[in-house]
Order: sequence, then C-alpha cells, then structure tokens
Amino acid sequence: MIEAMFSIENLIEIVKAGGKVKTGVDVYNEKGILLLEKNIVVDKIKPLHILQQNGVLSVPVNSHADGGLWDGKGNLIRVGSDGQIEFVPPLTLKKSNAPALVSDYRTDSDIEKRLLEIQTIKKEAVQQYDAAKKCLQKAFQQVRETQGQFDVQEVESRVSKLVDFSVAADHPFPYLNREIFFYDDYLYRHSTNVCALATAVLHRFNTHFSHTIDNFLSENKADISGGGWGGDEAHSASFVYYYGEDLNEISLGFFLYDIGKAMVPETLLNKTSRLTDKEFEIMKRHSFDYGARVLEANGIRSCVLNNIVRYHHAPLFENEEGCYPLDKASSDIPLYVRICKLADIYDAMTSKRSYNDALNQVGAVTQLFRKYVKKDPMLQFVLRAFVKSVGLYPPGSIVYLKNGQMAYVLESNGPLVITFTDDKKNTLGAKPDPIDLGRPGLDELLKIDMERSVKTPKEVYRILPRYIKNIATPI
Ligand SMILES: [Fe+2]
Ligand SMILES: [Fe+2]
Repeated sequence: MIEAMFSIENLIEIVKAGGKVKTGVDVYNEKGILLLEKNIVVDKIKPLHILQQNGVLSVPVNSHADGGLWDGKGNLIRVGSDGQIEFVPPLTLKKSNAPALVSDYRTDSDIEKRLLEIQTIKKEAVQQYDAAKKCLQKAFQQVRETQGQFDVQEVESRVSKLVDFSVAADHPFPYLNREIFFYDDYLYRHSTNVCALATAVLHRFNTHFSHTIDNFLSENKADISGGGWGGDEAHSASFVYYYGEDLNEISLGFFLYDIGKAMVPETLLNKTSRLTDKEFEIMKRHSFDYGARVLEANGIRSCVLNNIVRYHHAPLFENEEGCYPLDKASSDIPLYVRICKLADIYDAMTSKRSYNDALNQVGAVTQLFRKYVKKDPMLQFVLRAFVKSVGLYPPGSIVYLKNGQMAYVLESNGPLVITFTDDKKNTLGAKPDPIDLGRPGLDELLKIDMERSVKTPKEVYRILPRYIKNIATPI
C-alpha cells in the first residue's frame, strides 16, 4: 500500500483501541488551512475530531512517505491492493524496562553510555519537575489573590508536558533525589510528586494490568458486587480502560488534587504541631468544600477532576478511619481517585518533613500493603503497578550491599549494579564488572541490605569514583 483512504470514524476507533496514525501527507481544510501535519503521530482522538469538525471525513495515509497506521500492539496495519488488511509486527527494540542483561555491559564504554543516559534523563526530569512545581506555586498564588481563580490553560499545558515526558522516559521521576524542604515548598513538590507518581501508576496499570484484571473480574463476577472500578458508570464487573485523553484529564486532577489548600489559612498549613479539632475541621474542607469551589470558580466541570479533588481523602476500604467526606461508599470511589490517595500517602511517607523522618521506598510500600492492600484484594494490582512505577531501585540510585559495599544502580531490573566502594566506604580504584543482583544463587552477602539506605546523597558524592562522578552530578 502506498496510499489508502481511511474514514475518520475508522481512525477514531483504531486510536481509541490504543493505535496510532501518521498520515504522511499534510491535511488541509477547504480554505487551505493546515489541519494536520504529515509527520504528526496521532495517538489521541482530539486531532481527529478537529478534522471532522472541519468537514474532513476521510484522509489518505501514505505509507510510502513514512506514514502509517498501527494497532494498539504496534503492528503496522496494511491494506493490500485487494482491500485486505494485514498486520505487520513491530521491530523489537531494547526498552529501558526490558530485562537487563549483564552481557549488555561488556565494555567500559557500554557502562559509560548508560551512565550518560541516566544523567541526561535526570537533567531533563529536574527541569520538567521544577517547571511544574513553579507553575503550581503560581496557580496557588493566583487562587489566594483572586479568591479562587487561576490560569487553567497554563496549568493544563504544563501538566501535559510533564506527562508526555514522563511516559516517554518510562517514568523517570523516582531517579530524583529527595531533600529536606520547607512546608511552603513541600506543598508544591508534594503535589508534583503525586501527579508524576500517580500518572505513572495509572499508565502502567492501563498497559500491564487491565487485561489481567478484566479476566480476574469475569472469573470472579459472583464475588464482586459493584467493584467500583469504573467510577461513575460502575456497578458492572469490568475494568474501565482509560484512553489517552482521559489520562491527561486525570493527570491534571492529580496535579490539582490539593488546590483547595490555597484557601486554607497559611498559618494552619504551616503549623507543624498537632492541629486542634477545630483546625482539623477547617483543614478537611480543602477537599470537598474549598477544592470543589475553586474548580467551580474556574468553570471546571469535569467529573474526573471533581472526584479527585473531593474524594482523595475518602475511605479506600469500608470503615477506614479518619477519612472524609463519607457521602460515597468506598466501593464507589473510582480507581483513579484511589491511586491518587495511595500516591499522596506514599509520597508523604517517603518525603522528609521536619517532624517526621522519611521512610525508604521499601518500608513505605510495605506499610501501604499492610494498611490498605490487604483489605482489598483488588488493590494488589494497583500496588504491583505502584512498585513497578516507583522502582524500588531506580537507575542512578545508590544502595548498600549486605557485605557493606556501596553500589550504583545501572538498571532497576535485577537490579544491575556496579560496586564502587569496599566494605569500609573506601572508593575502589578499578572499575568492577556489573553484577545482576537478581541472579538466582547469588551469594547472600551480595544482596541489597534493605535495612540500610543512603540518607544524604551529597555525602555519598564525595566517595563516588571519578568515572561516575564526572557524569552523575548530585541534584
Ligand atoms: Fe488533600
Ligand atoms: Fe498530601
């Protein structure tokens, strides 16, 4: 096939099912205005709707000019001259989440290449993260000054950049180190973390687990009444898959979930001692009352955003204590709201606050499991997506081995590490070979010491060997 016409309706179906289209030809409306550029890969419905609104009902797809049509699994969809559709499987590329092999690191330059790659992603992540944090800070300021309004468009475009980068780089935010911060800063960092993390979890959940869950649900139909997975149109035992544009909307919700806090007096927000009952009542209002009002003041009627803002402190299981508001049964809280709540709790547990020392990732996930996941078997799927997303040992992080050596993580699968100190924290002179810590039968002493974690990255920086230090500047 060089060029075939496809109806926009058909393309919408394909994109809805996770497919993509690149026309390979520029598409204009009748007034000669360019509606869709030939090199744009369309994986969202919106651009296709815009074509329809402009009276374009079908478009050519020119595979000769690098255009094409792909299904949700990445198979190229070809239409033969006889009109038959054939699927061409994609080339398999090594992705960062593919199992890492020690054999991928045969030479020093393989290691150097990987160190540089980790560093490049980190740098970009820092920039994206800072821009998002500043954008949220500005929005909070605007809400405070105007009693409710903020520049919604600016926030929307910032969140979509954050999400695009995060998905493309396979969720790199756990690579970033955490430091102590003041509450004012904490609020914006925390919301940015929650957005990046919850988006990663939902995205991974969508791509890895929705099918498993659908099977699970249909096998266990009799045991699951309601389920609450589909959110508003729930009460059918089926998992609702989220499409691209839903994800953007949900991520915007993850970013703005605590926006109601802009209406809480700052003296209360900054208070580090325990809140009185009366103060706590005011604080609670940031969700179902102030938050909902801020959305209204900005004309945001999205039910997704409303659910997240109102219910991110609602119970995850029946009779969970300290939750609010209680006007919805826990089983009716949509999945994306539950993920927001778990991300919120997880991030609070792993961030250092003046009155509460941070837990490491393993400790935090264990606590989440004990408190929440055990109560609801369905949440186990969420936790699996969670563990995969937060990456217990993200590339670029530093771990202690049981024999006392320190090691730098090259790949979270395994993980695959290079040791760089002896057991007394003396920097090793020679560059050791990578070790796959997931290899069966590995010496017990070479396993990760989960009791010990690196608390202050800057201190470690002093003992990093030059070949890592030159690339891995601390953040
Ligand atoms: Fe909140
Ligand atoms: Fe929070």
